[in-house]
Amino acid sequence: MNRKAIMPNDNSTLLPSVRSFLSSPRQMLIDGEWVDAKDGRTFATVNPSTEEVLVDVAQGSAFDVDRAVAAARAAFEEPSPWSRMTPRERSHLLWRIGDLIEAHADEFAQLEALDNGKRVTAARDGDVAVAAELFRYFAGWATKMEGTTIPMSVPGRAFHAYTRREPVGVVAAIVPWNFPLLMACFKIVPAITAGNTVVLKPAEQTPLSALRLGELLLEAGLPAGVVNVVPGYGDTGAALVEHPGVDKVAFTGSTEVGKKIAAAASGNLKKVSLELGGKAPNIVFADADLDAAVAGAVLGGYFNEGQCCVNGSRLYVQRAVFEQVVEGVAAAARAIKVGDGFDASSDMGPLVSQEQHEKVLSYIRGAVDQGAVLNAGSADAARERGYFVTPTLITSVTEAMAVQTDEIFGPVVTAVPFDTEDEVVAAANNTVYGLAAGVWSRDLGTAHRVGARLRAGTVWLNTWHADDVTLPRGGFKQSGWGRELGSFGLDDYTELKTVIAELR
Ligand code: NAI
Ligand code: MG
Repeated sequence: MNRKAIMPNDNSTLLPSVRSFLSSPRQMLIDGEWVDAKDGRTFATVNPSTEEVLVDVAQGSAFDVDRAVAAARAAFEEPSPWSRMTPRERSHLLWRIGDLIEAHADEFAQLEALDNGKRVTAARDGDVAVAAELFRYFAGWATKMEGTTIPMSVPGRAFHAYTRREPVGVVAAIVPWNFPLLMACFKIVPAITAGNTVVLKPAEQTPLSALRLGELLLEAGLPAGVVNVVPGYGDTGAALVEHPGVDKVAFTGSTEVGKKIAAAASGNLKKVSLELGGKAPNIVFADADLDAAVAGAVLGGYFNEGQCCVNGSRLYVQRAVFEQVVEGVAAAARAIKVGDGFDASSDMGPLVSQEQHEKVLSYIRGAVDQGAVLNAGSADAARERGYFVTPTLITSVTEAMAVQTDEIFGPVVTAVPFDTEDEVVAAANNTVYGLAAGVWSRDLGTAHRVGARLRAGTVWLNTWHADDVTLPRGGFKQSGWGRELGSFGLDDYTELKTVIAELR
């Protein structure tokens, strides 16, 4: 790691606000105050395009987690300002935060590009825009969390029975690095919409946008302690998951850590929601609009440098059009220009970290060693410096190969031919994951029938990555527990109370 230069290639493009944010170590947010770790520890966050240190960040220990949970608890319990806030006040506050994020969109986009590596434009038009929209969408729900009145049948007596949706309490939000701001907002927004309080642990690779968001939350008037931000590694997350003062854990990340969290949360039976890994099958039938299918396979395979849990990493193509589709995807992959996220001519940035870089390249190397063919891409680093990987398309794979079974989380797609619907449905479902899947066919019957047969939380028909904050998402099988966003997205952040009154 080079500690001298901290900026991207073209230093002059950085906003003054970003430069100033990176000019001194970043503290953590506890109870509305910016503080150092109790033991003074920090960790460095790195620009994956240049491998240079951006800034040092306070590293939360179990002691800091304890302080943050205490602050979140105090902010939750009556008579705190937060517990007294009306739904309408919460709604207005959420909307205000959305406006503030939008007003700082360029700044967030630069921070995200520096910390994660993704392109500035992708961050601004994707991550940041959707984050702002999330606050606005849920601002509408704050005043609409209704219950029901339910009839009872007790002869000779009269009752009024109804339900209330109440917050769960203190939510530990543990998020990954692929969409740092957005994943933080996926948890924070529904949590506070429902009146919970939060301790957020951003990913160790990408803590910056969450810390900047913390500043804006205070600026918008969110009471102290409602959202606390404690950066750190997995041990900081583990301290949160084990803490008896936490009522619920909301996690996005690897299936491996998801399983650990499910076990560790059992001490006080925390509610747990998990959005975990994926290995989405993308099925192209011979009767599909092949231009659209190729474009969808490219977007589905390589979006966000391949670091997206719903990417279509397993392409299945009906034999009659296999070569045509493979050539189309390979040509598009070869045309993708890999480069610094601040370079406007780049189509794809680096992977987030050295660890991911090594992991992804070793999967490609392993496939080649086992006799697979690279129709595009390479098992070598795409550049001498930075964690760049060339978009890769692999054929001649078997279902048993690691590239076909494991979530790689890089710009790597495998393509496999198939003959019949039954055969491809069986292959597509032959995975421990069940997050997303897709079908391309001009035949409505085929598309909907196969869509129904695929075991996945999201199914795209003749499209990929079409999305909205109104749509629930989550996983079947080992891709997780619960659903995020849409009208279902509040369920995991509320307890349902049944009230029964006798009318005497
Ligand atoms: P990870 O699951 O280890 O990290 C995600 C978050 O969990 C981070 O904030 C991390 O600090 C925290 N964490 C780690 N261990 C923990 C523990 N024992 N208790 C509580 N929190 C803990 O994922 P990692 O190591 O960054 O990436 C490894 C692989 O996971 C990737 O290659 C990819 O396959 C998958 N992944 C999936 C994501 C998704 O969106 N579903 C996102 C990120 C990674
Ligand atoms: Mg990990």
